[in-house]
Amino acid sequence: MVEELETRAPVTAPLLPPTSARPIADVPDESVHVRSTGLPEIDRVLGGGLVPGSVTLVGGEPGIGKSTLLLQLAGRVADDGRRTLYVSGEESAAQVRSRADRLGALQSELWLVAETVLPHILGHLDDVKPDLLVVDSVQTLQNPDLGSAPGSVSQVRECAHQLVKEAKDRGFALVLVGHVTKEGTLAGPRVLEHVVDTVLEFEGDRHHGLRLLRATKHRFGPTTEVGLMQMDEFGLAPVDDPSGLFLADRVSGVSGSAVVPTLDGTRPLLVEVQGLVAPSQLANPRRSAQGIDSGRLAMLLAVLERRVGLAVSSNDVYALAVGGARIVDPGADAGVALAVASSLTGNPLPGDLVVVGEVGLGGELRHVSHVDRRVAEAARMGFRRAIVPHATGGAPAGLEILRAPTLAAAVELAGVGPG
Ligand code: TYD
Ligand code: MG
Repeated sequence: MVEELETRAPVTAPLLPPTSARPIADVPDESVHVRSTGLPEIDRVLGGGLVPGSVTLVGGEPGIGKSTLLLQLAGRVADDGRRTLYVSGEESAAQVRSRADRLGALQSELWLVAETVLPHILGHLDDVKPDLLVVDSVQTLQNPDLGSAPGSVSQVRECAHQLVKEAKDRGFALVLVGHVTKEGTLAGPRVLEHVVDTVLEFEGDRHHGLRLLRATKHRFGPTTEVGLMQMDEFGLAPVDDPSGLFLADRVSGVSGSAVVPTLDGTRPLLVEVQGLVAPSQLANPRRSAQGIDSGRLAMLLAVLERRVGLAVSSNDVYALAVGGARIVDPGADAGVALAVASSLTGNPLPGDLVVVGEVGLGGELRHVSHVDRRVAEAARMGFRRAIVPHATGGAPAGLEILRAPTLAAAVELAGVGPG
């Protein structure tokens, strides 16, 4: 809760002329104007690219790489001949320039200004007339008419509202950067989510190079696609073979590891999940989940205990998705459960096996979407066998399909049961 004193009468919007209703098919289709940004991973998430006049909010924790991403984006769009204005409120123009140099973004159509005062920025819009405006970040903007400090709810909201209006009136694409803390932030970009067309979240583990870009709201298309990028010394590069990246450090023949063909959007992705079961000294044994939902892990442990007959409840249990991956796909359930079972019994899963399936409370293995696509990716990565839910049909060439009706059957098939 943040106290804010009202320092002037609330702005009343001028009365707009009435608009007329018309048949829906006669309304101009904005989405036909989608233009590629030149960065394939952003285009993938946006369903093709940016729409003129649209407003996109890019949120993420400080230091995750938002400025890097948007400077690269600005450079590509400018390279395509569309004039771009990059407004930096956090770094000096010289700092941004030297970064742009490294990112290959020194384009003649890319304009740069270090500015935080909103009326000045509006003035720059008149001078530069950009097709794309990037503001980094919305928390640094300041309208001197308002008494409150930059970053406060009223400043962020008021400044963003004005920029959104300019974007719609002048028809340029607007991209706003917003810092989000782990807790979801106080006076931050959350208040903007309803005024923008698209909300992108840029996330990743700062200690890993991998970065994920997801749309949590998108008025021009689906929000299911995920962009995968890798941060290196020349900025962010698309990840060509994400499965290869996630499996790079895998050692087979060790207990507590399973490979899961997950689905991120429409892209199949092989991820290694690990489980470790250790005797607990605590009255309430420890459960730790990284990259896996902790509620989901608790549920899987209960199913292993009650439906499979594996005594995990008195042990500490750790489970994680390797390489900074974050799994939201229920198809990974069976893999997590088998990794934990394997650690408990000490029997490793076969190195050429992948597992997919959602686990129900009854201990049944449930069908998940696009098993064919997932299994094909496993075959591409050299796996020979796949445990899938009973109801799944079809099998790609070169891969043996093992159908399991229940988690207990999967434990048996994978050879990770006791004995
Ligand atoms: P930055 O884009 O400044 O993050 P944000 O705007 O989200 O706060 O980038 C953060 C980190 O990225 C920085 O600590 C260094 C790293 N980085 C690279 O590894 N390679 C690069 O080419 C660049 C520009 C940054
Ligand atoms: Mg930044």
